[in-house]
Amino acid sequence: MIIPTAHIADSQQLMFKTSKDQDLAWELGVFYLKVPYWLDLEEARRFGYEILDSESPYRDVYQYSELEGYISLENNQQTKLALRRHRWEEHYPLEVARFGRQLDDIGRAVIREVFRQSGIPEQLWTDASGGYSSGHGTAFLNFVHYDTSQSDLGLRPHTDYGFLTILDATEPGLQIQLNGQFSDVPVLDGHLVINFGEALHFITQHSNRPVAAIVHRVTSQAADHPVRHGIVYFANPELEGMLKQFDVLGREVGSSSVGALFAFLEQKLTNYE
Ligand SMILES: [Fe+2]
Repeated sequence: MIIPTAHIADSQQLMFKTSKDQDLAWELGVFYLKVPYWLDLEEARRFGYEILDSESPYRDVYQYSELEGYISLENNQQTKLALRRHRWEEHYPLEVARFGRQLDDIGRAVIREVFRQSGIPEQLWTDASGGYSSGHGTAFLNFVHYDTSQSDLGLRPHTDYGFLTILDATEPGLQIQLNGQFSDVPVLDGHLVINFGEALHFITQHSNRPVAAIVHRVTSQAADHPVRHGIVYFANPELEGMLKQFDVLGREVGSSSVGALFAFLEQKLTNYE
């Protein structure tokens, strides 16, 4: 299976080589994005490795919640520094906060292309996406490390809840589910992996081009790479907000509070175990 590749044009539009590639990306819910020349990826990677130092001051970032702050999950050998957009400037170095804003630009280009394809009238995009498509909503920028020297299951199969996830993975391990089977998503040099989540599926469900939320997992790593490092950006709606389902005539066909949708997904995941 060949995962399609896209790039962002100077016009900020997400482009695929062929419409077939685009169809496949929408159908699968995953594609590679060529790293745009304006993205400070190397800076961000350097920062990610810096946090591995046990003396790093970033390990003192306050843990705001289960999802935010410097978090050490002893049970699965994972540590991460995770922050929502409104805290980036406060805690991340300037160039990393800027990197986050650049990922916002990528996320916006992707969601706007999804909307363009969906046929939902443009004046409704902001409302449908709880503000994300016009630069609001929320986003997480996370620097994640797995200590792979101890065996672990990695991440169990799941779909992401938000709109889309941008992943910079430098080690193999990501797999997607296709026809009941898991296949590798190989690391493709110079590319990020973008996958679609449940909230994006939800808001396009009654449009011309619904997108799929891809089921994926991360397998545990061989111990020859003792540390697995990744940068993950989650484009999410505001947790207190609403998501709306419009059709191509602009009629509101359904809606859900973000909280209710996420609680429903959580329930589904629990049943799945
Ligand atoms: Fe995920």
